[in-house]
Amino acid sequence: MTHRIINYLELQGLARGRLPRIALILGSGLSDLADRLEDAVEVPFGCVPGIDTPSVAGHRGVLLLGRWAGVAVLVFAGRLHYYEGHPWRRVVQPIHIARELGAKILLVTNAAGGIRDDLQPGALMALRDHLDCTRPYWGRDRETRSECPYSPRLLEMLQLPTGVYAQLTGPCYETPAEIRALRACGADVVGMSTGREIEAAFRLGMECAAISCITNKAAGLGGGAIRHDEVLDTGRRVKDKMIDVLEAFIRQACP
Ligand code: HPA
Repeated sequence: MTHRIINYLELQGLARGRLPRIALILGSGLSDLADRLEDAVEVPFGCVPGIDTPSVAGHRGVLLLGRWAGVAVLVFAGRLHYYEGHPWRRVVQPIHIARELGAKILLVTNAAGGIRDDLQPGALMALRDHLDCTRPYWGRDRETRSECPYSPRLLEMLQLPTGVYAQLTGPCYETPAEIRALRACGADVVGMSTGREIEAAFRLGMECAAISCITNKAAGLGGGAIRHDEVLDTGRRVKDKMIDVLEAFIRQACP
């Protein structure tokens, strides 16, 4: 393991022998999936230029370059959130690094609260679009676009129920009234990440996909108070199912 700040050229050197074709971001409670990598080098986030160390439990905060199902992959085990105090450009810095190291496909995973009735704790859902509730809608947005950033080709490979993810800033969970409003706006699940990462990757020309692991029913839908340890426990409980889905996806997306 590397424990000092490496410069960008050194990172490129590490990647050269393992040119990643696909980058994965593993969210809350899902960082352990990175154990599947073979021949991996591991670099703590704090040692990578431009990436800070995450402060949230369940986010390991390491970058790994290795092989999964015979494919060279780059894995971010853990992520940075806006609510930790990072500006958005730092939150999406891993995406820029992934693209610069050569990854053309991005698969993001997250933990989410289920709003749609069939999305119970333990279920997986592939994102077909998102509502970015973190974006200021006032003022002029020069980057307005109308395309959906999720690749239909990758979505089909995932073979999961699909739905719309609402990204809020967090860190607090929502009120029941907010969940009713999000449902009325078309959200199927709610979380505190992913949308901005996908937007950044799409702008860089990457092919994008994302999976939500439903860790709890969203606020007011019958599950009682939502706790972060419950979110992490469910994430760990579905680990094997998620591994199977990711492995099958990697094989198909990078034949
Ligand atoms: N709301 C927001 N983010 C989440 C939730 C939730 O219910 N569960 C896991 N991440």
